[in-house]
Amino acid sequence: MKALVLSGGAGTRLRPITHTSAKQLVPVANKAVLFYGLESIAEAGITEVGVIVGDTAAEIQEAVGDGSKFGLEITYIPQERPLGLAHAVLIARDWLGDDDFVMYLGDNFIVGGISALVEEFRTHRPDAQILLTKVADPRAFGVAELDALGQVVGLEEKPENPKSDFALVGVYLFTPLIHEAVRAIRPSWRGELEITHAIQHLIDSRADVRCTVIKGYWKDTGNVVDMLEVNRTVLEGQDRRIDGEVDEGSEIIGRVVVEEGARVVNSRIVGPVVIGAGTVVQDSYVGPFTSVAENCRITDSELEFSIVLRDSSILGVGRIESSLIGRHVEVTPAPSVPSAHRLVLGDHSKVQIHT
Ligand code: DAU
Repeated sequence: MKALVLSGGAGTRLRPITHTSAKQLVPVANKAVLFYGLESIAEAGITEVGVIVGDTAAEIQEAVGDGSKFGLEITYIPQERPLGLAHAVLIARDWLGDDDFVMYLGDNFIVGGISALVEEFRTHRPDAQILLTKVADPRAFGVAELDALGQVVGLEEKPENPKSDFALVGVYLFTPLIHEAVRAIRPSWRGELEITHAIQHLIDSRADVRCTVIKGYWKDTGNVVDMLEVNRTVLEGQDRRIDGEVDEGSEIIGRVVVEEGARVVNSRIVGPVVIGAGTVVQDSYVGPFTSVAENCRITDSELEFSIVLRDSSILGVGRIESSLIGRHVEVTPAPSVPSAHRLVLGDHSKVQIHT
């Protein structure tokens, strides 16, 4: 069995949260969302992985390399434009050969991995197996309609009036029958060859399409609350590991990771927390569910339930909570006179100011 990982698509450079051109590299607990996907593919015992890349190929290849750090053999498959998920299957046809495969969307996060699902698929080997999860607003997803027995009877891509609240999760298990289906469909209204339509084609031709409902699913939709939540879930599962320096005046409580090259000086850290390599925390408090990425400076401040991306400084500002702070950001106290706010905010920023 092989894996086809989709990391193409156009860049999203202007989005405040991703703040990177490849949305698959958004960090969750200081690790790119794509890395969790690759790790769970390796854990499921799959080693041959094809990675679809587009505009952001260089960034993805630099981060992932040849796959050896994940125990994988990676082949990059360039897609000239994001022409759809089924188009990705079309162009990977030769590489996939006649193997079964798991198709994994690189911006999706499945809590608990995919080993059990891959096992189930290997045991029963239906023609295709899809994953569903309940979401609050299914209109942003592919949506499945189920019959009374829980069998999928229909699929729609981003419907205005969803027939259920079961969204399609971006992990699909296929036998080679999918190749006929992706050749049979036409582009959708958004000009893409939709995998949803290809699976509908399988259903219409009476193929055995099964579904599994999962909990613990996330994708970056640009929603800060969701991102803080997934960060919290991942941190909750981490073990304590102190590879960096912690001085005598500091106290580290609970499941805290201090990466090698990080320094904690005269500070209190209450886990679960991760402090990235090269970061210095001084005269500060860092509280539960906080990820501070690499090469940051936290001085004379308090930080809780937040994400700080790399190369940022938070200096002498008191308490910050439930916040997402991008890369290369400086947060410093304002001079007391004149009492006006001086702001340099990126596109789509959201700021709350005491008046
Ligand atoms: O995330 C789950 C949803 O993913 C499903 O519910 C939908 O049914 C499915 O169509 C898909 O919807 P999105 O519109 O959210 O997919 P998106 O365009 O964001 O692409 C998903 C991933 O695949 C992302 O990592 C980019 C990559 N991609 C996308 C396209 C269209 C490619 O590599 N090539 C492509 O042509």
